[in-house]
Amino acid sequence: MKIAVLGFGNIGSGVVETLIKNAGAIAAGAGEPVEVKYICDIRDFSAHPLKDKFITDFNTAANDPEIELVAEMIVGLHPAYDFTKKALENGKHVVTSNKEVVAAKGDELLRIARERGVRYLYEASAGGTIPILRTIADALRVSEITEINGILNGTTNYILERMKIEGISMAEALKEAQEKGYAEAVPDNDISGADTARKICILASAAFGSLVDWSIIPCRGIEGITVEDIEEASKTGRAVKLTARAVKLENGKIHLSVEPMSITPDCPLVSVNGVYNAILLKVKDCGEMMFYGKGAGSLPTAGAVIADICDIVRHKNCSSDDIIWRRDDSVFVADLPREIIEETEKRLGFPI
Ligand code: HSE
Repeated sequence: MKIAVLGFGNIGSGVVETLIKNAGAIAAGAGEPVEVKYICDIRDFSAHPLKDKFITDFNTAANDPEIELVAEMIVGLHPAYDFTKKALENGKHVVTSNKEVVAAKGDELLRIARERGVRYLYEASAGGTIPILRTIADALRVSEITEINGILNGTTNYILERMKIEGISMAEALKEAQEKGYAEAVPDNDISGADTARKICILASAAFGSLVDWSIIPCRGIEGITVEDIEEASKTGRAVKLTARAVKLENGKIHLSVEPMSITPDCPLVSVNGVYNAILLKVKDCGEMMFYGKGAGSLPTAGAVIADICDIVRHKNCSSDDIIWRRDDSVFVADLPREIIEETEKRLGFPI
């Protein structure tokens, strides 16, 4: 299958590198070779070894009938959303790592994909390399998902660990995270919890079918966390983690929130350190399961993008017809019932 890669930044370059380096294994996994025909980026790559593949006008790829799939790894909502819409309308499958697009426009793009008989996959938009969206889809075939708790931002988890182990400042730790390619282009999105809020809304949409606007959910980041807070938590075996929650209440309402929590020593999230993410999924009749892996970085995230590409190539004639997200802010509730708060304090921890 011939594909176009959109955006040659941290993740896009990781996808191209992996597609070339692991071509044999990917062809075996996908059932046929995956060839990058175009790399679309407005910057100048005329000195790059792959210079012949670079284009600056997305229309070249969008109007090329040989291109069956577009891998979108641009940062920000525009023009990524516009290009994705065009690609889907032109009958091309799209895979993405762009959580801003999925959280803002996932419902519409899934609908267009369904109407055009193609697929829109976004595994890399939440949980980095962890195949959590596939897992959620599998879990839903068995039973109902009632709760998701997780660490969904690699940068802030890395920062909190560096503050704990080295006692360095948040600014110094952020600089390291930027050098390692974990942080967003605008790292305020990591620190403020906005990146985590988008990701929990994506996971909740997959689990509960309702897409809630991430900007209305209660969201606190790690701005106010000090080395002293972290040391205080450590004294009792606890750890400070930026934690995302999605809880489906018995009345059908959905609670979503992001805040730093002091995680209890008995909760498996307590030992999730560095750039790692972890997601606890509570499934009716099955109990709780934890999924763990690198949450940021070029090659781990590229791995999730390529898993989506292989899925599409292997199941070429499928469409996204079984995935329906309804945009519905009315299902959202900011407050949890007292008994759930008390139970959460024992099982997970308390907000700080
Ligand atoms: N800045 C994000 C993080 C990148 O640190 O988790 C992966 O989404």
